[in-house]
Amino acid sequence: MNPITHAQLDWDDQGRPHSRVFDDVYFSDKSGLEETRYVFLEQNRLQERFAALPVGGRLVIGETGFGTGLNFLCAWQLFEQYAVAGAHLHFVSVEKYPLSHADLQRALALWPELQPFAEQLLKQYIAIHQGFQRLILDNGRVTLTLLIGDALEQLPQLDAQIDAWFLDGFAPAKNPDMWTAELFAELARLAAPGATISTFTSTGWVRRLINAAGFKMKRTPGIGHKWEILRGEFLGWPAQTPLPPAAKPWFARPPAIDGERHALVIGGGLAGCTTAASLAARGWRVSLLERHTALAQEASGNPQGVLYLKLSAHGTALSQLILSGFGHTRRLLEHLHRGVDWDGCGVLQLAFNAKEAERQAQLAAAFSPGLLHLLNPAQAQARAGVALEHGGLFFPEGGWVHPPALCEWQARHPLITVLTHHEALELQRVDGQWHALAGDTRLASAPVVVLAGAAEIKRFPFSADLPLKRIRGQITRLAQTPQSEALATVVCAEGYVAPARLGEHTLGASFDFKSDDLTPTVAEHAGNLEMLREISVDLTQRLGADALAPEQLEGRAAFRCTSPDYLPIVGPLAERAAFDQAYAALRKDARQIPEAACPWLDGLYINSGHGSRGLITAPLCAELLAAWLNDEPLPVPASVSEACHPNRFALRALIRGTGG
Ligand SMILES: Cc1cc2nc3c(=O)[nH]c(=O)nc-3n(C[C@H](O)[C@H](O)[C@H](O)COP(=O)(O)OP(=O)(O)OC[C@H]3O[C@@H](n4cnc5c(N)ncnc54)[C@H](O)[C@@H]3O)c2cc1C
Ligand SMILES: C[S@@+](CC[C@H](N)C(=O)[O-])C[C@H]1O[C@@H](n2cnc3c(N)ncnc32)[C@H](O)[C@@H]1O
Repeated sequence: MNPITHAQLDWDDQGRPHSRVFDDVYFSDKSGLEETRYVFLEQNRLQERFAALPVGGRLVIGETGFGTGLNFLCAWQLFEQYAVAGAHLHFVSVEKYPLSHADLQRALALWPELQPFAEQLLKQYIAIHQGFQRLILDNGRVTLTLLIGDALEQLPQLDAQIDAWFLDGFAPAKNPDMWTAELFAELARLAAPGATISTFTSTGWVRRLINAAGFKMKRTPGIGHKWEILRGEFLGWPAQTPLPPAAKPWFARPPAIDGERHALVIGGGLAGCTTAASLAARGWRVSLLERHTALAQEASGNPQGVLYLKLSAHGTALSQLILSGFGHTRRLLEHLHRGVDWDGCGVLQLAFNAKEAERQAQLAAAFSPGLLHLLNPAQAQARAGVALEHGGLFFPEGGWVHPPALCEWQARHPLITVLTHHEALELQRVDGQWHALAGDTRLASAPVVVLAGAAEIKRFPFSADLPLKRIRGQITRLAQTPQSEALATVVCAEGYVAPARLGEHTLGASFDFKSDDLTPTVAEHAGNLEMLREISVDLTQRLGADALAPEQLEGRAAFRCTSPDYLPIVGPLAERAAFDQAYAALRKDARQIPEAACPWLDGLYINSGHGSRGLITAPLCAELLAAWLNDEPLPVPASVSEACHPNRFALRALIRGTGG
């Protein structure tokens, strides 16, 4: 894996950006705005298409080359002018060399009339790292999914139906990689029926290649110094070309839900609250059921959790999910109160042994320094503000979060009804509705139900065989002292300690695979103190922790909920016996793809298994679930959504039956 690099820009005497690598301009010298509007908005007939969107409707735009985001902002402005309230805009754009925040700000300052939109984009343009990065704008009315990386690596991973394509690489002669037959085949694969397309170039070979991919391109008069440009529409996959492989039926999208957009979400922790928020932002009515008297009383109830990224240098599905999830959560936190609800003080992972130091060196070679970089012991100590024995890996954008604040903010939406003290004991599907029952009492009903109750989802027969395990964990609360105020960043080794929130540091966390009892234990407080000593003897002294008897310590315990492959379980669920029957052929030959449609449990979805990193995975998985339910572009690569799919376990069990 190569780390992503920012765009290298030069600025002309009128303040316009120019790419040093491609020796080309980001937008026309004369009037970037007029050209964007003419070439992309007009040729794709966006004004009339936005105006025709119904409440709950949406349009999906795809772009090659996000650059300064000018096209995106112009499309958003037009959408704002013409689309009804309750319609949505999805914009998906691929970019290999994202602008730095400072460069983006400088470039967008050129367009005062776009300022309200540019401001919102700039506020959210943080933690933009490789892979899929989702930005939620205008309270969810506009969704931007940036695919950071080479177009030909990223687009094949996209699961979406694009209604309008903007082709905006640099000029074909200067940037041939953005104008290849292979790339145009991807645009065709992703094109919705009747999709439109336009570009500023009229180069003959480009037109012929796009046509060969299944589009019908027409030359049309240009603007400014462009004599002609191209516009077109998607006719269909060309007959002479083999069809791209279809999604395997067990990972295909279930049929869209007809009728009322109302969901029951069962569980008021991070998974449930974020799911409710993602659905409500799309116009769904949500009944959020929580058995306790308030939200976030179980795993999501700790005073501080850490935005801790356990990445792999090999780009595994889990590592991709973590990087995309981190960016998403980090951007959501911008809406919360810094210092009380969260703090972006950075996270330092200590290289506490040789193996860890080696792992960290590999990560530093694979990711950009803005995400993580190595610190020697002296630098680490300067960062942390307390004496340390080791250097480590520093994540400048990391920090701590008060999870209940995130939960409460996410559940605060006029379309969400929070039903506390509501414990769903049973679920029944009758006449197209899911009913949550407690004995004879019907708690709530809706056509869709999302199980977000961590390992408790195993109580329902439909999800009873999902391999979720509970792992008890305990945190210790330590009062801040004048000396411990120096701690300036979260520091982690086997455990973690965070700078104080409201006068208290959180020290975590134990792992107990056996215990079912949530009463905090003295032994685990003692274990947490031992982890603190391993992090920093100096900090232990500053906290006066050596003088504290573990019996006097306070804390809380809860269950993490993990799956065997450590990935969360997110998506639609199938009926297990029918699934085994439909795909029985896989027992004999794992490469078979039977045609049988997946026997979905209509309207039943899962968001669980967030393990020790729910702060990073749960909010993005909520977006993934909402994308499944609304037939939208997925916020993660197809391979990641498959790796998180509830059907993966049933599938593996069938394949294992082959002895393979
Ligand atoms: C000690 C400890 C330390 C941690 N540290 C971190 C950290 O530093 N960083 C990090 O990212 N993550 C951390 N985690 C993990 C993180 O807290 C979890 O991944 C996350 O909170 C999971 O959220 P959830 O909504 O899936 O589960 P929960 O928060 O457990 O929520 C599930 C909710 O569902 C409700 N429920 C269940 N069944 C029903 C039902 N039938 N009817 C009604 N309600 C129901 C429960 O009451 C509960 O409120 C830690 C976890 C623990 C235990
Ligand atoms: C003309 S600029 C895009 C302008 C942009 N649409 C705007 O509104 O500002 C072309 C963009 O394509 C990006 N690019 C070039 N080659 C690429 C590739 N192979 N994959 C992804 N992006 C690429 C460049 O970094 C640059 O940002």
